[in-house]
Amino acid sequence: MRIFLDTANIEEIRQAAKLGIISGVTTNPSLMMRAGRSDYREVAQEICYLVQGPVSAEVTALEAEEMIRQAQEIAQWSPHVVIKIPVTAEGLRAIRILSESDVDAGSICLGCAWLGQCDMDPAVAHDLALTWGIRTNATLVFSANQGLLAARAGATFVSPFVGRLDDAGNDGMEVVADIVQIFATYDLATQVIAASIRHPMHITEAARLGAHIATVPYDVLMKAIRHPLTDVGIERFMADWEEVKRKAET
Ligand code: E4P
Repeated sequence: MRIFLDTANIEEIRQAAKLGIISGVTTNPSLMMRAGRSDYREVAQEICYLVQGPVSAEVTALEAEEMIRQAQEIAQWSPHVVIKIPVTAEGLRAIRILSESDVDAGSICLGCAWLGQCDMDPAVAHDLALTWGIRTNATLVFSANQGLLAARAGATFVSPFVGRLDDAGNDGMEVVADIVQIFATYDLATQVIAASIRHPMHITEAARLGAHIATVPYDVLMKAIRHPLTDVGIERFMADWEEVKRKAET
């Protein structure tokens, strides 16, 4: 299972990227608000530069035509960008049309401040945009049916929101398990992103159930790295090594 970071906070992404365990990032308008940013293109392009993997950016429209218009614009920001679209009737219609649309590859990485410093050169970006087309992440998935319908519409990813389901008294992981099983049964290529992750056990459970990806807030990732017994173990090894050195010197 791959790990994405669920944030629009550049400093968090920079820190997590240094660890070499992050394969992508998911953002949404609420995460942009929390990061105190309104310049979605600049934020998304910097994240693409830092992570060099799928970066989800969300449309902010309710009707399919406007979702598609926004998606076509967002898709030009980078070949890494994935368009996040909520699962509604209009959203499914937009996902279907986008899954069969091309990116305007001639305008790829439009206005990117990182061109020249980026690992991906413009010719490769152009070719990837043509190969990948417009990739979508069906978001706000709260049932197995929504996941199945999004996959049938041609979504690249679906994001069941585990924590929000748990908060509402449901079992969020059951929805992840159902979707993983349905996709395997019918050989659907859509990847499952366990989203709305609240604590490290959610990561373990998602991995156990066969989710392709868990998108994890920075604080949950830090909690997942640490274990008190690791800290105690390090402390003991350091103290014992000091003792070894002290004895060797005497
Ligand atoms: C997923 O892509 C969403 O950005 C995110 O996981 C939502 O999580 P929340 O319930 O913590 O807002």
